[in-house]
Amino acid sequence: MKGDKPVLFVASECAPLVKTGGLADVVGALPLALAAQGWDVRVLLPAYPGLVGKLSGATKIADFEALFGGSATVVSGTIAGLNMLLLDAPHLFERPGSIYLGKDGKDWPDNPQRFAALSFAAAEIARGELTDGWRPGLLHLHDWQAGLAAAYLADDPQRPAIITTIHNIAFQGLAPAFMLGELNLPGAMYSAGGLEYYGQISALKAALVYSNLITTVSPTYAQELMTPEFGMGLQGVISDRKELLHGILNGIDIEQWNPETDPALPMNYSAKDTKGKATCKAALEVEFGLKPSQNDILFGVVSRLTEQKGLDLLPLAMVEVLKNGGRLVVLGSGDVVLEKALKQLAIDNPDQVAVKIGYDENLSHRINGGCDAVLVPSRFEPCGLTQLYGLRYGALPIVSRTGGLADSVIDANPAALTKGVANGFQFQPTSVSGLESALLRAIGLFSDQFTWRKLMKNAMTHPVDWKPSADRYISLYRQVLA
Ligand code: ADP
Ligand code: GLC
Repeated sequence: MKGDKPVLFVASECAPLVKTGGLADVVGALPLALAAQGWDVRVLLPAYPGLVGKLSGATKIADFEALFGGSATVVSGTIAGLNMLLLDAPHLFERPGSIYLGKDGKDWPDNPQRFAALSFAAAEIARGELTDGWRPGLLHLHDWQAGLAAAYLADDPQRPAIITTIHNIAFQGLAPAFMLGELNLPGAMYSAGGLEYYGQISALKAALVYSNLITTVSPTYAQELMTPEFGMGLQGVISDRKELLHGILNGIDIEQWNPETDPALPMNYSAKDTKGKATCKAALEVEFGLKPSQNDILFGVVSRLTEQKGLDLLPLAMVEVLKNGGRLVVLGSGDVVLEKALKQLAIDNPDQVAVKIGYDENLSHRINGGCDAVLVPSRFEPCGLTQLYGLRYGALPIVSRTGGLADSVIDANPAALTKGVANGFQFQPTSVSGLESALLRAIGLFSDQFTWRKLMKNAMTHPVDWKPSADRYISLYRQVLA
């Protein structure tokens, strides 16, 4: 079977090349699931420092003399089974540190131009600018960084089909209205029915208005996006186009996240034979400097530390939990106030809480391997991948009932326990007492190891692979290409 037309993914992150969050995991995994079904997919990504050197078979296949203040090229090549196109524009992307933030922790001031350039290059590629003759029939844009591609192509008679996926509506790609000309956008688009958003340009709104279809990363988030509480000002735009909106739950790469073969784990295990998990737990406790105890539950967190993730609730929610023997390990970085609060929790409870500030891919695997449960108390969560990793590793997810968390975790309530289908814990509202009662509920169930093991088995066999979701994307691709 062959895909109908070549597809170009456009995004600012893609694992394993560059990652700050789940967007990278999705952009690195979904193309492989599509390729497995015969689709020809390439991913266009900025050439951040060092990335071109990581590609196999790197070849220059486009030249832009002037792209937002400098010259640029497009380099094709492969990595980890992905067909990549890197936009090499040193004046925009060759800089140290974070891909989005300068040394002061604020957005790079020229982020509008940087990602307009990415979007403009995508539009040129769609117009047939690559010297190797490859030309996409469909553009799949991810988040605001790719959004202006839809605007650049809006009036093009040869416009390809365009689908936009919203991974997080909190990031809208705003720029002051006076930048319209500088961003190569026609004045006529600056209207309420176009890309104007409360007196500014919004790259995400451009994508929502000028795409053929919109998707987001879970069915529940699709519904939430149309409400003032979650739509972040764009609920009206989305509601107006609700027949074009589809919620498709993310999957995960089940090869890379496989406790049976994961080289990061001190001992491998499977749903059939979970013995190795005890070894992973003991090793993790030693690594974090906690006193090993198989009888006491070990909670884990792997997260960006931001308002979205609700981890500010943790210090207060842990008070009773600590008295009941609960222990906690945290890996994360972000908001300085939050980092400090979590570090303080560890200082105050050195036997039971340990916190590592930083970003560490291998350690995140060991945490899923070694913990009994992972916490995701988000205020909003478009999909969330960490609860899916938790499921796969038998670290039962404890999640707030929102977005993709609501769609992937089955709460251990009496009905689900009786039916034997529970795989974790949900709570609502996202508050200290909501989180606390879920944690205490988990402690209660953990003391009944027979039931806990059943939940672990349910979790580890819950389908989290990309195939069903890739099928849904393919049927949307066919719909817009028809
Ligand atoms: P978001 O994209 O909103 O941050 P997701 O749950 O979709 O949330 O994805 C987060 C991804 O980033 C997961 O792959 C998670 O394991 C990873 N991650 C987050 N923080 C860290 C960290 N400090 N170290 C390693 N991996 C992290
Ligand atoms: C965003 C969301 C997260 C989602 C990820 C991948 O970062 O915050 O919930 O899982 O995108 O779609």
